Amino acid sequence: MRNLRSIGIAAGLALSVSVPALNAFASEPTVPPVPATFPAEGKIKYVARDSILEFKALPAYHEPDWVTEKYVKAGKLPPVKDRLPKEPLVFKTGNMPDGIGVYGDTMRHVIGGRPEGWNYGAGQTQGWGGIDIGLSECLTRTAPLFQVEAKDTEPLPNLAKSWDWSADGHKLTMHLIEGAKWSDGVPFNADDVMFYWDDEVMDPNVSPLNGATQETFGVGTTLKKIDDYTVEWTFKDAFPKQHLYAMAYGTFCPGPSHILKPQHPKYSKNTYDQFKNAFPPEYMNIPVMGAWVPVEYRADDIIVMRRNPYYWKVDEKGNQLPYLNELHYKLSTWADRDVQAVAGAGDFSNLEQPENFVASLKRAAEPNAPARLAFGPRLIGYNLRLNFSANGWGNPDERGQAIRELNRNEDFRKAVTMALDRKALGDSLVKGPFTAIYPGGLSSGTSFYDRKSTVYYPFDLEGAKAELAKAGLKDTDGDGFVNFPAGTAGGKNVEIVMLVNNDYTTDKSLAEGVVAQMEKLGLRIVLNGLNGTQRDATQYSGRFDWLIRRNEQELTSVVQNTVQLAPVGPKTSWDHRAPESGEVDLMPFEKDLVDIVNKFVSSADNNQRASLMRDFQKISTEHVYNIGLTEYPGALIINKRFSNIPQGTPIFMFNWAEDSIIRERVFVAADKQAKYELFPEELPGKPGDKGPM
Ligand code: GLA
Ligand code: CA
Repeated sequence: MRNLRSIGIAAGLALSVSVPALNAFASEPTVPPVPATFPAEGKIKYVARDSILEFKALPAYHEPDWVTEKYVKAGKLPPVKDRLPKEPLVFKTGNMPDGIGVYGDTMRHVIGGRPEGWNYGAGQTQGWGGIDIGLSECLTRTAPLFQVEAKDTEPLPNLAKSWDWSADGHKLTMHLIEGAKWSDGVPFNADDVMFYWDDEVMDPNVSPLNGATQETFGVGTTLKKIDDYTVEWTFKDAFPKQHLYAMAYGTFCPGPSHILKPQHPKYSKNTYDQFKNAFPPEYMNIPVMGAWVPVEYRADDIIVMRRNPYYWKVDEKGNQLPYLNELHYKLSTWADRDVQAVAGAGDFSNLEQPENFVASLKRAAEPNAPARLAFGPRLIGYNLRLNFSANGWGNPDERGQAIRELNRNEDFRKAVTMALDRKALGDSLVKGPFTAIYPGGLSSGTSFYDRKSTVYYPFDLEGAKAELAKAGLKDTDGDGFVNFPAGTAGGKNVEIVMLVNNDYTTDKSLAEGVVAQMEKLGLRIVLNGLNGTQRDATQYSGRFDWLIRRNEQELTSVVQNTVQLAPVGPKTSWDHRAPESGEVDLMPFEKDLVDIVNKFVSSADNNQRASLMRDFQKISTEHVYNIGLTEYPGALIINKRFSNIPQGTPIFMFNWAEDSIIRERVFVAADKQAKYELFPEELPGKPGDKGPM
């Protein structure tokens, strides 16, 4: 970490003397102000990690009566005990907020995304909002860790029911759950795990949905099958326990190899495109390890999912989970999700768009309100991210290339960050104590955050203009926008194309705010607003100058998605990737960030890890690695009829609340059950068949 010592914060802003003396020194870099407290923050009840679940055989197992009557007795399904693994995953009653549940009812989700298809491992989105989370089961699980004290935190077992480290710490042997089955009854085993690794993660032509690459699990890591229920990892580092987090959602959730493999180009005549698109949204009953299976899809209307009769988790009384028979995903907008949830027409929302805070709080405060609403910590944040590749990622033209060079110029980045009036940006979303000044870097809600290690360049338009001049930009034709120097991109106005997700009101409001504030600085920003799926594709292929992105887990939890904190691999970073052939052209401070992240991942010493993250925060905010826009708390809105919702569940931390609430053990008490099931007493049918069995 060469540069750690040399971080003189004040020295970092020693402005050049060539700048007109106006009030260029009005602001010195400082720490961000202490954020205001906000109302209605839910309190988390902390528990020990091993109090949540275990794996064991129980004397007897149960299922909904109609499953026994209609399917088992009719010979359409084996008895429940034969559908379950030898030792199912058992949720302990003591950790269930309302205890053992009863069967029945539906959770009605509303989402703003649309399904591309079911091939998650080949990169297709199912529309988000928790659909893929409900279909996927992963080697480990982390979402419920929000309720575990940070010092006790290690991922929970899931498809990997246990693991052991070799004495030298370079090998990790994982024992998979034995005798568990996919929702079509086909056994789950190490072949599914190996197909995901060999033919999806390691195949350069396939990119799983949440971007797993080999580097996600450490540079040079390998995985091999030992037997049907054992796989073995080999790592370059000793005891890199951090990778257990990458084996949770969304980077190690294997798909059904018996269905996927025959379509993969290595084993068929398909092209990679044909493989990716082999399971369109209309393809029903895709086999899953998750608690519900898609049985109905109507475009722009709804996706319906029914209980998985082979689900491998139970409660302590031996009741096969899930308790809820059905899930709905209404295909609408994200803003409508809030509206429907508070009105009682939907059941669940992550209230994450501040534009909806006031109306939602009002409705939830009424005595007859159908839903409860509780805020969590300030973990929703937005960054402006600059494309740092100057060696060809996304094939920029001359103008684009000139922007990349500017993005890599620290004076330029300081100009941008100092020209942002973050108070005004926050207030434009919602007035009141919710939004806070967020300079960038780690989110203030994570346990790794240290305010004193956070460098904040306060709003100072004149100072910002001086920095822009230092970066060599002047308005040579007097139209109010700075130009490239003569000889670069024809000396034209600097024009920056900013990628924005059009699915969210908040993203659009922030984008408009940034455009207006940059105009005052003299920078012309052109918006490229796309729907979420197109936006992601555009981002991953590097076709942007700037982008606005809601923060992901690397900033909210640090231990989840850690490799995304810096460009540690050719394809791990959001904003700085390698071109098709070539390496990531790291700037010196990025090299320091990469070193820190690699050290963090291989360190098991909590004090060292905390100190590394303070260094990370300092370097990343001092050099303006990404440019924070705002941060604020989100609130979980959930219909009052549901039980077993853990108190204080944050809408986002290790994962989204759809996972954190552990939906498979959520239930509706008998006297509160509503008649929302669209396919009562039906089970999923054969893969590819239309509709239920
Ligand atoms: C979208 C929503 C989030 C959450 C996730 C789950 O991103 O905006 O609130 O539901 O999907 O994947
Ligand atoms: Ca101009």
